[in-house]
Amino acid sequence: MKTQVAIVGGGPSGLLLAQLLHTRGIESVVLERKTKDYVLGRIRAGVLERGLVALLEEAGCADRLHAEGIVHDGTLMSYGDEMFRIDFTEHTGTPVVVYGQTEVTRDLYEAREAAGAQTLFNVEDVVIHGADTDAPHVTFAIDGETHRIDCDFVAGCDGFHGVSRQTIPLEVRREYEKVYPFGWLGILSRTPPVNHELIYANSPRGFALCSMRNENLSRYYIQCSLSDKPEDWTDDAFWQELKRRIPADQANALVTGPSIEKSIAPLRSFVTEPMRWGRLFLCGDAAHIVPPTGAKGLNTAASDVHYLYNGLRDWYENGSAEGVDLYSELALARVWKAERFSWWFSSLMHRYPDQSEFDLKMQVAEIEFLRTNAAAQKAMAENYVGLPY
Ligand code: APR
Ligand code: PHB
Repeated sequence: MKTQVAIVGGGPSGLLLAQLLHTRGIESVVLERKTKDYVLGRIRAGVLERGLVALLEEAGCADRLHAEGIVHDGTLMSYGDEMFRIDFTEHTGTPVVVYGQTEVTRDLYEAREAAGAQTLFNVEDVVIHGADTDAPHVTFAIDGETHRIDCDFVAGCDGFHGVSRQTIPLEVRREYEKVYPFGWLGILSRTPPVNHELIYANSPRGFALCSMRNENLSRYYIQCSLSDKPEDWTDDAFWQELKRRIPADQANALVTGPSIEKSIAPLRSFVTEPMRWGRLFLCGDAAHIVPPTGAKGLNTAASDVHYLYNGLRDWYENGSAEGVDLYSELALARVWKAERFSWWFSSLMHRYPDQSEFDLKMQVAEIEFLRTNAAAQKAMAENYVGLPY
């Protein structure tokens, strides 16, 4: 087989890149280790920055998002029984859109199928060869049979556990990591959201988040111990704990019901540098992870895709290597800002096991500053709606 861009990984990064390239007549093949149903079964965050919305529009995949996505002009923050609001539209002129990552992925798969573009599922043993030459190729197996794709470029969009990052030699690669001493227990339930906007709560019992997918589908999270297992938490125990972490009036208004999904995610900040090695480009979770506070994972993947897409357009449409040569530098500059925001927001809202009385006072002072200071709210809002590409 031969293609222009071999894309390893059929998550949102790989699919968005493939679809954008398709609109410019640049050919790609997507190689996905799992099945489509498996990829669509993963529940992830659901807040889209304006930049991602614009990319989905450019890819021709934004119709359902515009019809079903919920525009949010602000968010609520609480600590103890106090609650205040940060108005994104007032501070930045831009709202965010609440629309599940699973739905974004579904829309991208549909567009890909409608375009007759090639996605290979159940692909095993992907190996990237000659990434540091002008003629890379990728080998892989399907049903035990080995295949080879020759290409101009390889996009490593295969997530945190993929092979692409490992292909970059250790002497070239530098990794930065912070692991947080807690996790998020999340549930999805067919109940109306407790509030029409998200609530980020810092309580003495730990963090909680009230989010949503639509008017009858809610997503809630509570900070939990890393040793907890989802099966340790009955639905009832989850709801009780959530109610104790949000203001009383919200707890009284909360409609509970059976969970239809329950899972625990650890929190991690991670960045690998550089994001390019020869003709291999890392995109999304393959290159960086953020803790979910602030929902920057998918959005940061999207900014990588933006820089890579433009670099590849430069190459194919203008015969210029400038965009691909600048990819790692441009992508990382924005990645680190999203890392900083996610780390700051996580540090602000969680209770840490080793937090001293002084640390707690600092947290309260910072939340108070955010509550009362317009400049602090503007800075928060600018980051939340997404820094410019
Ligand atoms: N070969 C082929 N495919 C692979 C391989 C491999 N060796 N390893 C992993 N994959 C696939 C996974 O099965 C997955 O479908 O790559 C895909 C990577 O998708 P994601 O993990 O969703 O990563 P990405 O597309 O970068 O999306 C970033 O997703 O994880 C969230 O928080 C993250 O929201 C962010 C977004
Ligand atoms: C979600 O809806 O899953 C979500 C929303 C906002 C976040 C994190 C997760 O900050």
